[in-house]
Amino acid sequence: MTLEEQIRQLAKQFHPRIIELRREIHANPELAFEEIETAALVAETLRSCGVEVKTGIAKTGVIGTIKGKKPGKTIALRSDMDALPILEATGLPFASKNEGKMHACGHDAHTAIGLGAAMILSQLKEEIEGEIRFLFQPSEEKNPGGAPVMIDEGALDGVDEIYGLHVIAQHDAGTVGFCAGEMMASADELYITIRGKSGHGARPHFAIDPIVTASQVILSLQTLVSRNLDPFSQGVITIGSIHGGFAPNIIPEEVKLVGTLRSMTKEWREFAHRRIEEIIRGICDSAGAEYDLYISKGYPVLNNDPNKTIFAEEAARALFGSDAVFKAERLMGAEDFAYYLEKVPGTFYRLGIRNLDQNITADIHNDHFTVDERSLEIGAAMQAYLAIKALKQ
Ligand code: NI
Repeated sequence: MTLEEQIRQLAKQFHPRIIELRREIHANPELAFEEIETAALVAETLRSCGVEVKTGIAKTGVIGTIKGKKPGKTIALRSDMDALPILEATGLPFASKNEGKMHACGHDAHTAIGLGAAMILSQLKEEIEGEIRFLFQPSEEKNPGGAPVMIDEGALDGVDEIYGLHVIAQHDAGTVGFCAGEMMASADELYITIRGKSGHGARPHFAIDPIVTASQVILSLQTLVSRNLDPFSQGVITIGSIHGGFAPNIIPEEVKLVGTLRSMTKEWREFAHRRIEEIIRGICDSAGAEYDLYISKGYPVLNNDPNKTIFAEEAARALFGSDAVFKAERLMGAEDFAYYLEKVPGTFYRLGIRNLDQNITADIHNDHFTVDERSLEIGAAMQAYLAIKALKQ
């Protein structure tokens, strides 16, 4: 039997157990850095298949290790475990028992898939030349993310490559998608306060109007993307909140703006941070107003290593055939897997979960979101195969 056949067969054999685990995790969702029950289930399941376990990494994270008979590289496989503060409306028999919390981003599937990969790999110890490390991390959904904490606590020490996946509702179950290079955006939050001098609305010449100044700032910030970004590149700036003033005839003292900045390259992100301040400073100077700018840095740009992406795509073709492979779209969303990829090469790929016949079409973060569970078998096989193949390379 070929390695591909072995992996497919083991994935099929463990599929019912992977479904069971996913449903148990789905029914008991926990928010970022509160994944206590989930982590306990992960640790217990890993131990039951002979995987060495470390708990309490990054508070609620778990690391599992399988060492092969021969020395070699170390490959990391990552799963995220946290749920979202959403009231579930799927009506599924295994729907959330924790009101107001829901696995609406598929991290229940990611965790079950990570465990499935561990079950498969624990049957293939003879094939493992080196070490496979399973990272079950807390808090992907909430900035600053669990990934940088996992890294700080040594999760990547000695790791040569890393692979991770995310469900996608726009592609059918049974498929996987890849995208080399920059796939997901960096996301930063902007907090701007513009301070003028309050006064009577009918005597503006005695005041400094922060509302007019803020309006100029908002419009000028739009030139960041329209005038300072290569038209072939991507970026977004949005001011999502504006607060200031009380009455028709009063010029207020200050206006507060809050916004988001998304970039697709590290270079443009750094440029944009400087340019935002220049625009605000220039306009405030000309108006005689003062400002405070705070940029809360979110996840960095997610940059897939081109060679590892080609490697993973070829692995998918070998395992499931070319019809199962799609070209993954780039997204303006952010993902903390980006931190791992800043340290070691690897790729983050998409797992199709849609099923039009069964009406499984809701997008992630929707209260009707669910996955076609056939995708669990595909994901577990894929992660296990990638780890073994990467070690042999
Ligand atoms: Ni997610």
